Amino acid sequence: MLAHSQTEDRRLRVAVLGCSGSIGTQTLDVCRQHADKLKVVALSVNTSTAFLARAAQEFRPSRVAVADASRKDDPALGDLPSGCALSFGEDAVAQIGCQDDVDVVIVALVGAIGVWSCARALEAGKRVGLANKESLVIAGDLIMPLAARSGELIPVDSEHSAIFQCYLGEKADQAHAIWLTCSGGPFFGRSRAELAQVTRDDALAHPTWNMGAKITVDSATLMNKGLECIEAHHLFGVPMDFINVVVQRESKIHSMVEYADGSVIAHLGASDMRIPIQYAFSYPDRWDTPAPRLDFRELGGLTFGAPDTEAFRCLALALEAGRAGGTLPCVLNAANEIAVAAFLSGSCGFTDIDAAVEHTMNRFSAERVESLEQLWDIDRAARTEAARYLSARS
Ligand SMILES: NC(=O)c1ccc[n+]([C@@H]2O[C@H](COP(=O)([O-])OP(=O)(O)OC[C@H]3O[C@@H](n4cnc5c(N)ncnc54)[C@H](OP(=O)(O)O)[C@@H]3O)[C@@H](O)[C@H]2O)c1
Repeated sequence: MLAHSQTEDRRLRVAVLGCSGSIGTQTLDVCRQHADKLKVVALSVNTSTAFLARAAQEFRPSRVAVADASRKDDPALGDLPSGCALSFGEDAVAQIGCQDDVDVVIVALVGAIGVWSCARALEAGKRVGLANKESLVIAGDLIMPLAARSGELIPVDSEHSAIFQCYLGEKADQAHAIWLTCSGGPFFGRSRAELAQVTRDDALAHPTWNMGAKITVDSATLMNKGLECIEAHHLFGVPMDFINVVVQRESKIHSMVEYADGSVIAHLGASDMRIPIQYAFSYPDRWDTPAPRLDFRELGGLTFGAPDTEAFRCLALALEAGRAGGTLPCVLNAANEIAVAAFLSGSCGFTDIDAAVEHTMNRFSAERVESLEQLWDIDRAARTEAARYLSARS
């Protein structure tokens, strides 16, 4: 159980890294709803300085960080409350989670950059509520042993929070399979030819979840599900083929664990990220729900199906990278980040995303993971290759 501070104020002291994003703002909402239990002490953004100033006015953290160091003269920062320490740069973001007055760090950063903050917070002995799935996709071979030695890692991704809860009280070696659920995304049922025609606006209209742009596109390509399989493989210490992806269109079953005797334990609930975010704070306790409850009488039905890995190549590529292991998932992730950014900026089509990822994966081999610095170099090289491939096609 998480040790509370020894001061009179018994609230958990929280750092929210990436507080202006979809997960970050929902984390702040949980903090707002449970102000008697949670105290925000540190916040970070990349460029959203006006948001940061407003959040700092409301939550009164002792320090904030802005990753984009070119914002030093940003007038919005003049609205920070007096006494609130301000620092700049990527390192400053990781640093504010490591201070002595922090109990829990929510890593709500998007992309590979999150791995540094996750690792640093664990090294500092913090409980990490990990939304940033890229951390485990890239560096699960380093992060999981680190989490076993220092700190505590609680998944925030809804499927992984669900699986984590389906394992509670059970013997992990008696599990037979993980069923990782997938909404199917906005293009469920479409053919490859139809996918080639979809636009940025089509891709950003996710049917169930309101998320940041990058993960919304990843959900549309099903890369998100592939990244989640690699994340689950590391988090729960199971082979990739132990994990079955099942399309669950209503997004009410958040995932399941099947045991040796054929019993299946499922986690159900409202489709609201505040629930798994809150659990990363409250575990092993449960607090009052931050979201409307699910009324099963109004649910109608639950539908299931297999994902189409022929049309949605990103899922097949991620499973391939996860099975190969080593540094290949880092290559996959880097190429995907470049291709998704290109798609969002209008410089490539939807199916160019998986083409760029496949091309880049074919240029690299799976090496043994040695260090974050090694992964950083591979990430940079894979980004360069993916960008070169996409610019040659346009
Ligand atoms: N959204 C969901 O429902 C959901 C569900 C499960 C898992 N996740 C995972 O959670 C993570 C965050 O997703 P999101 O949807 O919340 O993303 P998002 O809405 O794009 O927010 C990203 C946050 O990270 C900050 N940021 C961006 N680039 C940065 C950089 N280079 N250095 C430091 N900070 C940076 C952003 O600040 P600015 O606002 O200043 O740019 C923002 O606060 C992702 O890994 C995603 O896969 C999300």
